[in-house]
Parts: sequence; C-alpha cells; structure tokens
Amino acid sequence: MPQEITLQVNGRIHRVCVEPDTPLLYVLRNDLGLKAAKLGCGQGQCGACQVILDGQAVPSCRLPVRSVQGRSITTLEGLGTADDLHPLQQAFIEEQAVQCGFCTPGLIVAAKALLDRNPHPTEGEMRAELADNLCRCGVYDRVIRAIKRTMGQAAVRPPYEKQNRPEQLPQPQTAPPPFD
Ligand code: FES
Ligand code: FES
Repeated sequence: MPQEITLQVNGRIHRVCVEPDTPLLYVLRNDLGLKAAKLGCGQGQCGACQVILDGQAVPSCRLPVRSVQGRSITTLEGLGTADDLHPLQQAFIEEQAVQCGFCTPGLIVAAKALLDRNPHPTEGEMRAELADNLCRCGVYDRVIRAIKRTMGQAAVRPPYEKQNRPEQLPQPQTAPPPFD
C-alpha cells in the first residue's frame, strides 16, 4: 500500500506517496523528475544509478525508498547547473571524459563523494572508488585525469550548500504541504 515518504534530496524536502519498497531510483526519476541517475543493470552492479547518500556513493536501484527517509541524498542535479557547473563537471568537459554519457552521472557523484572524504586521493584510491562504475565506452583514463584536475579545489560544494539551505528535516507538520 502506498505511504507518504519524506525525502531530503539536494537540500530540499520532498514528500511522495509511493510503495515503500519502490527503489529510490524510480522515485527520483518518476516522482521527482530527477533524471540524471540512470537505470542500467538494476542489480547494483554498474553504477549508472549512483547517488550520494550520507556522503557515500550508492546504487539507488537497490535502495527501497523507505530506507532513506530523513537521510541526505545528493544527485547529479544537486551539484551544479548549466550556468554554474561544479568543478568536476567542468573538468569532465575539459578532459572530454564523456563519450555516450550514460555512465557519467554515476561517475561524477562517485568522484564527488571520494573528494569530499579525501581531497587528495592517489590514483589507486580513485580507481578503487570507481571500480563499481562501469563504462562501456572506456573513458576511465580521462575520468581519472578529470578528477586529478579537480583535486584540491575549494569550490567543490554544490550550489545548495553554497546557498546555505537547511540540511536537516523540519519538524513534522500537522498538515503536510502539497507534493513538490
Ligand atoms: S542500475 Fe543501479 S547499479 Fe546498475
Ligand atoms: S561514456 Fe559511454 S558508458 Fe561511459
């Protein structure tokens, strides 16, 4: 039976009414209109659907939406905009680290999670972090160059963090507002 689920995505609070076992990926794409994360294998093995959950890159195709209530979720849409690219997005462009682009959202959020934890990873640490992100076009070396280009940059905060939007869920309200 559908239930109301409260999600914190890219610094905003969303309330959706869905089956609680629905994969987070489906809710992001179908209910919130956030299409960056892709459905590849659907089995947690390709990384195309990765989002950042509490600082870790995780496959959203394997996460029941009920399990992520109240936790901080960041998708590629939360990193930058066309007018204000995140440094990783800019670096992926400059290094031409994209061919078909299907794997790119997962790779960028995985790189973001890595650099947030470790601003100066070794190449071995980068490759280990991205081991779950499969790229059929084989742009791995360019991706590594893009991450190296970004390392140490201060501006690796997404726009919603720069704008200081609330990160915490608000107190429960008696009458929930309409869905976003
Ligand atoms: S679609 Fe989720 S890991 Fe492949
Ligand atoms: S750029 Fe095509 S799958 Fe990676």
